[in-house]
Amino acid sequence: MANSTARETLGLTEPSQIDTQKISFAAKEVDLVEWKGDMLAVGVTEKDMSKDENLKFKNSIMLKLDSRLGGLLSEASSEDDFTGKTGQSIVLRLRGLGLKRICLIGLGSTTSAIAFFRNLGETLGEAAKAFKSTKIAITLSSSEGLSEESKLSTASAIATGVVLGTYEDNRFKSESKKSTLKSVEILGLGTGDNIDLKLKIAEVVCSGIIFGKELVNAPANLLTPGILAEEATRIASEYSDVFTAKIFDVEQCKQLKMGSYLGVAAASANPPHFIHLCYKPPDGEAKIKLALVGKGLTFDSGGYNIKTGPYCSIELMKLDMGGSAAVFGAVKSLGQIKPLGVEVHFIVAACENMISGTGMRPGDIVTASNGKTIEVNNTDAEGRLTLADALIYACNQGVEKIVDLATLTGACVVALGPSIAGVFTPSDELALEVLTASEITGEKLWRMPMEESYWESMKSGVADMVNTGAHQGDAINAALFLKQFVDKEVQWMHIDMAGPVWNYRSDSATGFGVATLVEWVLSHSPFALIYMPHIKCNII
Ligand code: BES
Ligand code: MN
Ligand code: ZN
Repeated sequence: MANSTARETLGLTEPSQIDTQKISFAAKEVDLVEWKGDMLAVGVTEKDMSKDENLKFKNSIMLKLDSRLGGLLSEASSEDDFTGKTGQSIVLRLRGLGLKRICLIGLGSTTSAIAFFRNLGETLGEAAKAFKSTKIAITLSSSEGLSEESKLSTASAIATGVVLGTYEDNRFKSESKKSTLKSVEILGLGTGDNIDLKLKIAEVVCSGIIFGKELVNAPANLLTPGILAEEATRIASEYSDVFTAKIFDVEQCKQLKMGSYLGVAAASANPPHFIHLCYKPPDGEAKIKLALVGKGLTFDSGGYNIKTGPYCSIELMKLDMGGSAAVFGAVKSLGQIKPLGVEVHFIVAACENMISGTGMRPGDIVTASNGKTIEVNNTDAEGRLTLADALIYACNQGVEKIVDLATLTGACVVALGPSIAGVFTPSDELALEVLTASEITGEKLWRMPMEESYWESMKSGVADMVNTGAHQGDAINAALFLKQFVDKEVQWMHIDMAGPVWNYRSDSATGFGVATLVEWVLSHSPFALIYMPHIKCNII
């Protein structure tokens, strides 16, 4: 089979052998001047950097550190013009103090949003890697003003950033540099069970984000729909106390009448696999049933409407399973957290969009599993065709709420740029839930309108609808298309993550979506059985 030959003949590192060095996190309250280790990082605002007429810091923490270091901080900051602005940092090498390096990181004028602290953590993680540090600590020079709640989310965002900043996907490189970081102490943001639990959850969410990144980074010759299904089954069996897995092959999908999905898969030598994982809480009792649906195109050539031209990025179209990667990343995290009170269905109609004599032609009519007919006037608008059958299937599971994630349209990237995902939902309640979750995680979402009048351009002369309408507003047209396949009584949200799935600077996947999905699921659960030896595990 094509799946197994891919791995055998190429002899490359297998995908998804997660190779994360274990970093331990601890929240402590210690006297900063006594701290010993490889690097002490201090996040400073512009205000914290202000000095009096004798060039002494006004901020008490900076003043104390500076006098311990014999005025080095005030001297270096003036010489290097370090004023605490966002994006500024200085690293100073020390001697004879049991502290190797001190690093000042600018926080700008305010101690701001969560996304910002995640970036701060990433900068620190990258620095720790570059300096081969094993033990580091981070503190903020003014954290007194922060509420208990924001101290917790700040600590969690920093920890997440550090893990992701030290992580590098080296699976497909013949030589690789490994991070040596072993221990991170978070100082001055509180101690105790609440923060310990928050840091433990951050660690577990990171393992899901990294899993998601590795799935997206894996090239389409290695990560076929079959391998994606294998990975999903493997992760479900790792947490078999809470997950069950069902995989449907072509024949079974035919029986389920998934003509829209199978139309997309028809050209491919690597057969489609419809993946359904189900999470049930350890005590079996669920008050609410949710579904997470992900677009799982392991490669999108465009089909007969092949992707041509300078900006089509056909060579990047392995990323077109980013929605499914977010969903399976959430599986990995939730398998460890084990929230009570929620049942969650994870659904991915995985396939490739290729070209061959058996493939869909532009103008073909396909029938989705709810009986609706679609004239495929553009084979490159394939994601919505696969999601149609996946959404119908999700509704048939009797769920109350569905969130789908998809790298669906270039139009959404044009509208919101590379770091913000578009959110489409008729439900204000679900919008509030998911946007609140994303504010906690720092992943950027922006609600877009579902302008019903645009449906006009999606009408077909011969079928119930076409799959591509007017070029303008295509992200909205795509969302209106998906809506045709969702039961009216189900709350549904579509997230178009075509922009934030990929980081063009590092040329690798971001793991976007995992953190917010986990946060949203946890918001529906009062308790979890996460492994914490000494803590009763109320989710906070
Ligand atoms: N997978 C693409 C969307 C995409 C583009 C994702 C860029 C990530 C980066 C999707 O299947 C697609 O081809 N969409 C078309 C739809 C059009 C033909 C109506 C698009 O946006 O160009
Ligand atoms: Mn496409
Ligand atoms: Zn696509």
